[in-house]
Amino acid sequence: MKINFIDLKAQYREYQSEIDSEVLEVFSSAQFIGGDKLNKLENSLATYTGAKYAIGCSSGTDALLLSLMALDIGEGDEVITTPFTFIATAEVIAFLGAKSVFVDIEEDSYNIDPTKIEDAITDRTKAIIPVSLYGQCADMDAINEIAKKHSLPVIEDACQSFGATYNGKKSCNLSTIGCTSFFPSKPLGAYGDGGAIFTNDEELATKIRMLLNHGQNERYKHKYIGINGRLDAVQAAVLNVKLKHFDKEVKARDEIGSRYNDLLEDADVITPKICENNTSVFAQYSMRVKDREAMVAKLSEKEIPTAVHYPVPLHLQEAFAPLGYKEGDFPISEEVATQIMSLPMSPYLTEAQQDFIVQTIKG
Ligand SMILES: Cc1ncc(COP(=O)(O)O)c(C=O)c1O
Repeated sequence: MKINFIDLKAQYREYQSEIDSEVLEVFSSAQFIGGDKLNKLENSLATYTGAKYAIGCSSGTDALLLSLMALDIGEGDEVITTPFTFIATAEVIAFLGAKSVFVDIEEDSYNIDPTKIEDAITDRTKAIIPVSLYGQCADMDAINEIAKKHSLPVIEDACQSFGATYNGKKSCNLSTIGCTSFFPSKPLGAYGDGGAIFTNDEELATKIRMLLNHGQNERYKHKYIGINGRLDAVQAAVLNVKLKHFDKEVKARDEIGSRYNDLLEDADVITPKICENNTSVFAQYSMRVKDREAMVAKLSEKEIPTAVHYPVPLHLQEAFAPLGYKEGDFPISEEVATQIMSLPMSPYLTEAQQDFIVQTIKG
């Protein structure tokens, strides 16, 4: 049985005529940067999340970078985040000359543990970046409360959680700034790189818009040192189509994720726990197993693709050696990193495929 880890081809077949026609309109209009497609997308993204401002940008990484730049974070500053995430979260902090201060994760949600954040705050702390990992939001109320007490901004790294809800509110609109990624394999994926930044703060929105266009406030007048961080019109055109169908896909993801949980209940694995006030978009369906190597091999024998998100926590990455962390500093992240593995997940995974995966795991 042929099973894809993420079935982007099936998704394209489903929306092909709409996507082709939107993209061809961009080609014939020759409006490749900015323009109607991008404006339409930004308006739809703002409506979808409830955030006042939604700003398309070149990637999730740049969304995070631009957010830190807008908050003037740089040399000597500290930013609190989780070591159990994709490198981009902490990469952008280092890129600006600031320092990542890691805080361990919760055993259940794999998101930053709010009860450990306050101990990490110093007079150099300038922001907190919780990551809403695998499609489920971090405990944003608890994090926002700590941030408020210490007058710190919170940037939600929502690169995996666009479409998820927390206490009924949409991810990306839960803190000072929300950042998402439209990398093709994300729940809402473009046909290339892309991302978006969300905020309710007009000043920040205006500054971010300038920063992603070389710090320009008008043509060839540069108020800030910025970057080229724009989202192009072709990606906006694709996303406009996919956003229209997104709720249906989120529902399918939820059903498939819940079905995995039910079917694997009696298997020798730890299934993902979705917290009471959360819904997940299951950007990954990640479970824990004692012997990951053996499980990956067993699935691979039946040509079932798997992935590991993520095998090495950031504090143990060579690139972050200058931060001076060592093994044992974040025991939960370290343990989860040795056990976690992701199964095929997409709205197009059939019940038969899912049954085959589950039977193989149990076999
Ligand atoms: C948690 C997290 N943060 C940041 C990023 C970076 O997003 P992008 O690949 O769009 O730059 C990703 C994407 O893989 C991610 O999963």
